[in-house]
Amino acid sequence: MTTSSNKTVTTVAHTNIALIKYWGKQDSELIIPYTSSLSLTLDQFYTQTSVQFNANLSEDRITIDDHVVTGTGSKRVHDFLELVRQESGLNLSAEVNSTNHVPTAAGLASSASAFAALAAAASKAAGMNLSLTDLSRLARRGSGSACRSIFGGFVEWQKGFDDASSFAVPIETRHLNDIRIVALTVEKHQKPVSSRKGMAFSVKTSPYYPTWIKVVDADLANIKAAIKDNDFTRFGTISELNAMRMHALTLSADPDFLYFTGDTLVAMNEVKRLRHSGIECYYTIDAGPNIKIICQQANVKVITYTFSTLFGPTKVTVAKPGPGVKYL
Ligand code: ADP
Ligand code: DP6
Ligand code: CO
Repeated sequence: MTTSSNKTVTTVAHTNIALIKYWGKQDSELIIPYTSSLSLTLDQFYTQTSVQFNANLSEDRITIDDHVVTGTGSKRVHDFLELVRQESGLNLSAEVNSTNHVPTAAGLASSASAFAALAAAASKAAGMNLSLTDLSRLARRGSGSACRSIFGGFVEWQKGFDDASSFAVPIETRHLNDIRIVALTVEKHQKPVSSRKGMAFSVKTSPYYPTWIKVVDADLANIKAAIKDNDFTRFGTISELNAMRMHALTLSADPDFLYFTGDTLVAMNEVKRLRHSGIECYYTIDAGPNIKIICQQANVKVITYTFSTLFGPTKVTVAKPGPGVKYL
């Protein structure tokens, strides 16, 4: 079926930071993870994407941050559009314009906001009217972490066991709402090992991977209890531990690899020093050198001041819990 559709749909999706990490796929084609994960959607970092299916185009035309991307650079987006065409029955090429208000591929989850925004824009432009759950399932096919960016606030990606059962759900709570994430962008350049390759390599070569699966189950149950009990100390402690346990899977891979740089270690030590001096804060780190400091509103000022002095004020961004995907 080829229906004509030339409506341009524009969406905005925010990144999310995982507190309990997703690191490994059982099914790489469908992106079904080995473990469930839990994140917080952030108000500061986001992607805006417009999609139009157009009968006048002979192939997909993809622009990211004002650059036309082709070849390997556009393959992930092109494959995703193929999926949308398959599911919608619409048989037209698309024009995609996307802008990241987040550093790309630097461990600040650009793939999460990017594919959440693309899933919402492309499915709507193709005439589909998906529920948020189905949108989460679709976004997952672009990038696993993207399924969580469909929703705002705290979100759990329930791993499921097949395409139908693997999606994110929001955690309805008023607790921990003064939580803040102070993001340090010490490095804006693309990381050498993508999340996709890094996790596949950890699954394949780290002898600790089976233990990770068990540990995440416990960490997830504990952090959900901490949210329920409004227990920031427990929440932060589990987040920091879980991040380090994920990075242990890169150190124990064969050959080993590491996302941290010298600045990452300096920042980690500073967080611990502040904590021991009575300023309660914790860190988490994704697949890149940039660390995110988990704290409460009351301590934002002193933490911002400390890290601005160390790395420069332009490297420090304070984020609050952010919203789910939106149509403009
Ligand atoms: P990150 O830590 O930024 O999520 P990943 O390695 O997971 O890093 O993903 C980065 C990849 O996501 C990019 O190489 C690109 O393929 C894709 N991506 C990032 N931003 C966009 C965008 N706005 N539109 C389409 N794809 C994007
Ligand atoms: C460390 O979602 O970027 O940020 O599914 O291959 O696209 P793909 O990977 P991606 O991996 C995210 C890894 C992480 C942890 C997390 O966000 O849960
Ligand atoms: Co990513």
